[in-house]
Amino acid sequence: MKRRKFIKNTALSSIGVTFGTSLLGCNNTDQKNSEEKIMATDNTQFPIAICTWAFTAANAKAGEELSKGKPALDAVISGVEVEEENLKNTTVGKGGAPDREGNVTLDACVMNPEGDCGAVVYVNTITNVAALARKVMEETPHVMLAGEGAEEFGYSQGFEKENLLTEESRLAWEEWKKSPEYKPIINIENHDTIGMLAIDKDGDIAGACTTSGLSYKMKGRIGDSPIIGSGLFIDNEIGGAVATGMGEEVMKTVGSFLIVELMRNGMNPQEACEEAVRRIVTKNDRYKDFQIAYIAMNKKGETGSYCIHEGFTYMKYQNGENKNIPSDFYHKG
Ligand code: GLY
Repeated sequence: MKRRKFIKNTALSSIGVTFGTSLLGCNNTDQKNSEEKIMATDNTQFPIAICTWAFTAANAKAGEELSKGKPALDAVISGVEVEEENLKNTTVGKGGAPDREGNVTLDACVMNPEGDCGAVVYVNTITNVAALARKVMEETPHVMLAGEGAEEFGYSQGFEKENLLTEESRLAWEEWKKSPEYKPIINIENHDTIGMLAIDKDGDIAGACTTSGLSYKMKGRIGDSPIIGSGLFIDNEIGGAVATGMGEEVMKTVGSFLIVELMRNGMNPQEACEEAVRRIVTKNDRYKDFQIAYIAMNKKGETGSYCIHEGFTYMKYQNGENKNIPSDFYHKG
């Protein structure tokens, strides 16, 4: 029996349960509230898919899969693949901007409702890195594989070897090398990492996060996106969160994990995203120079989003509608 259903059943038969909250030292009232939150879940609201930025087609794909009854993990992987394969997208997958040496390196992670996770970093020859991260989760005893090891494992699983540097990205890199100043761009072309969360018809939550990282990054640089707890975190009893933007700053506050823990302690997804952004901006007066955005969804299917600078939007698929929603932001000038 799945852990969520087990908890539901034991709560129904009035057997005292202790989960999650006890680790944080919460009192009985908090525990009761958490139980009520689970009991209040209304599956008629499901399925739902949300993703960072205006990745309309990717989110629609996930929604389509969920509507066919597919599990949340299948849906998010099919969804993010749309952008991994979009050669015009210079921040995710094939066609992504390279590092300073001209290497396109991809990072991704996935997490399923059972709390299992998989990740790959520094992948230079495989496009569908979220699917590869899933293979790491399902077919190996490890959580994360890097570089050549991840690629060799990928070929053994049937992934195709490809050159990820498109002619367009190569030309843009050649242009950049003429005055190679490294400066993060806020809301780069109005897209960045794709992070996606889905809750399926059974109310189970999964997520994926995939990126080519910062344009013209140092060779070997890894950001937040493949790091469980930073770029993505799911707890199927509570909800999930994903991040986009300057990965270094997300990692310092373990942003996605923080949001899920804040939701566990009673915040709704909007309040939790706002608090996670506040943790960054109050400790770092350089926040005016970089963007961070979070999206989150709880077990009831409530969603929220917050970012530092105006311009971030996210997609939400629910009841056959796929909407682009502008995020509220911290820096109001
Ligand atoms: N958030 C993507 C990165 O920093 O690599």
